Amino acid sequence: MKKIRVNLKEENIYFIYLGYSLKDVGRLLTEKKYGRKVLILSDTNVFSIYGEVIKDSLTKEEKKVIDVVIRPGERAKTLHNAYNILKNCAENEMGRDDTILTLGGGVISDLGGFVASIYMRGINFVVVPTTLLAYVDASIGGKTGVNLPFGKNLVGSFYQPSFVYMDYNTLSTLPKREVKQGIAEIIKYGIIKSKKIFDIFRDKPVDEMKKYLPFLIEESIKIKKDVVEKDEKEKKGLREILNFGHTLGHAIEISHLSKFSHGESISLGMVGETYISWKLGFCREDVYYAVKEVLQKHRLPFNFSSVVIDKIFNYLRYDKKVRQGNLRFVLVEDIGKVKTGIVVKIEDVSKILKEMVKDEKY
Ligand SMILES: NC(=O)c1ccc[n+]([C@@H]2O[C@H](COP(=O)([O-])OP(=O)(O)OC[C@H]3O[C@@H](n4cnc5c(N)ncnc54)[C@H](O)[C@@H]3O)[C@@H](O)[C@H]2O)c1
Ligand SMILES: [Zn+2]
Repeated sequence: MKKIRVNLKEENIYFIYLGYSLKDVGRLLTEKKYGRKVLILSDTNVFSIYGEVIKDSLTKEEKKVIDVVIRPGERAKTLHNAYNILKNCAENEMGRDDTILTLGGGVISDLGGFVASIYMRGINFVVVPTTLLAYVDASIGGKTGVNLPFGKNLVGSFYQPSFVYMDYNTLSTLPKREVKQGIAEIIKYGIIKSKKIFDIFRDKPVDEMKKYLPFLIEESIKIKKDVVEKDEKEKKGLREILNFGHTLGHAIEISHLSKFSHGESISLGMVGETYISWKLGFCREDVYYAVKEVLQKHRLPFNFSSVVIDKIFNYLRYDKKVRQGNLRFVLVEDIGKVKTGIVVKIEDVSKILKEMVKDEKY
């Protein structure tokens, strides 16, 4: 069991509890003297497995539990669902010292965190993540939000949780495809900041990875937390480092109409962006091959055989983030070391990637 302290502005200091048991979460709420009412937000998949344990833990502490269980998936991140949760808060006369506890992946914590930030201008918000992606990414950093038909995460807020509570056992029921999404993000942390993380993925057998997960999760959280502490509201450009693999990855994800999951898309994004790093002289050839091999070893997509390059660029040419025909990248200098804010002409990126696809065929 471990506690990581996140040092934000004075009133915003909070802890991430790692390796605790879901059974004990109620006691922690009592210790922290939160109010009597707790609204649990979860989805049907997660609630059917872990709902009872959490509810028992809260009722043992004489909490009044309100549960709101929604359909799983990205499409649940709507203003409509946010309104329904707000309505439940109001109907149950929840006050400012009461709590919204999210039990689930990033969809649930983004939605629940958003509601916690606006109900009565902010109530206690406890995150209990259950996907690997939420452990290492979505539950850290204070970004909350919902989607609009016009785009993802268009409405939201920065709102830090009261605490984050992680029981590693929840990962045992996570479908393999979801585990891989988290693995892709952890490999990203390795490439941007930690050779130690990268070497575990490179050197240890795939079927032994479970053993290393607690270490990998803790290291990843520390990397994201360090960045967030320095740039809480994303105003200083320091968070950009976390976007490695995401400039291309995001374009691949959207232009291929979600044929690839987010994790698979950023795996391809990392391959493409490391190739660009090599071709522009930022890193050696062997760094590119090391990245590719690690992704292949962990069964993430590592070549562009099912990607249509023109689709990516048709999308990018109309993307608002592309300023005057230029793209901004985080490029790799070595494993564990990157450079941010590198501007490359979109036409050059397209040329380099087409070269990469040709290379892949030999
Ligand atoms: N706020 C942030 O900083 C941040 C960062 C990254 C991603 N996100 C957001 O996170 C979302 C993606 O999160 P996600 O990948 O966790 O998706 P998710 O919440 O949709 O969960 C993925 C699937 O796994 C199921 N599931 C979750 N935990 C389970 C468990 N322990 N056992 C069995 N099934 C389980 C869910 O029901 C769902 O079907 C996106 O909306 C994205 O925008 C936010
Ligand atoms: Zn990501």
